[in-house]
Amino acid sequence: MKIEGKCALVTGGANGIGLNIVRNLLIRGAKCVVILDLDKEGGTEAKKNLEKEYGKNRIFFFPCDVTKLDEFEDKFKKSLEVCNKVDIFVNNSGVLNEVDWTGMIDINLRALIKGTKLALDHMGTSKPSEDKIIVNMASIGGLSKYEGSEAFAVYQASKYGVVGFSTAIKKACDDRGIKLLIICPGAVEKTNVFTNYLKAAAESKLGDFVTQTPENVGFLIVDLIERNIKETTWVIEDNKTPYAVQFPHYSTVKIASLN
Ligand SMILES: NC(=O)c1ccc[n+]([C@@H]2O[C@H](COP(=O)([O-])OP(=O)(O)OC[C@H]3O[C@@H](n4cnc5c(N)ncnc54)[C@H](O)[C@@H]3O)[C@@H](O)[C@H]2O)c1
Repeated sequence: MKIEGKCALVTGGANGIGLNIVRNLLIRGAKCVVILDLDKEGGTEAKKNLEKEYGKNRIFFFPCDVTKLDEFEDKFKKSLEVCNKVDIFVNNSGVLNEVDWTGMIDINLRALIKGTKLALDHMGTSKPSEDKIIVNMASIGGLSKYEGSEAFAVYQASKYGVVGFSTAIKKACDDRGIKLLIICPGAVEKTNVFTNYLKAAAESKLGDFVTQTPENVGFLIVDLIERNIKETTWVIEDNKTPYAVQFPHYSTVKIASLN
């Protein structure tokens, strides 16, 4: 997809990986980028700084709690008022908070489902010839074989949910000519999610792991958006180039059967 001239919306775009997705979309010539984020101060600061670097009237920030689904829908409509259309919809907002675990599922999964549905409805009405893409943020914690811990088991469940829901919705995207990416990063430093992960990891004595910067991960995600790739699920870990994965049919991983 050519990003130049496209309109994008990024949830959780005020900080961390989301902010770097916004920055790289602007660098590659996006016409406008809307940030929806709960963090009013961070969003206002991000917009101010990005405007200094990339010019005015390209960046919009609307404070929004994506777990309040009516508010999310209202702010999406507001985004359409300023941008006219959304070609790139990035469901990125997320938290790691095992104490308020119901709230975490609301943000990481319920709001992501709402965002995907808003994008599908909107993009489904645009011309089939127009490029459009939905990017859903999962984690390596949402992939099988990743050994987790009780300390962040609900976070993992929410990300398994992201992978499961997004995989299930892939055909609907194909039918409407919408590309879908499911992004599964490993540990990304300088983020709230990583700070909370470290606390949980310390308590459960996990081994060492390689971290990556949000700057690099944001760059790689936007690079994946722009590349002509047909695979959907991409892992970005250990500071290496992204690689795609696919899930085997369950019958091929059968381990036992009766008689
Ligand atoms: N940091 C990591 O190690 C890591 C690894 C894998 C996946 N991820 C995923 O990447 C995504 C981005 O997280 P990050 O690492 O940049 O963390 P971050 O905390 O830096 O950024 C998350 C953003 O989401 C926003 N947000 C939180 N709740 C919200 C709500 N209810 N409504 C709107 N916005 C809200 C925050 O204000 C923040 O700007 C998340 O989905 C996270 O699960 C992160």
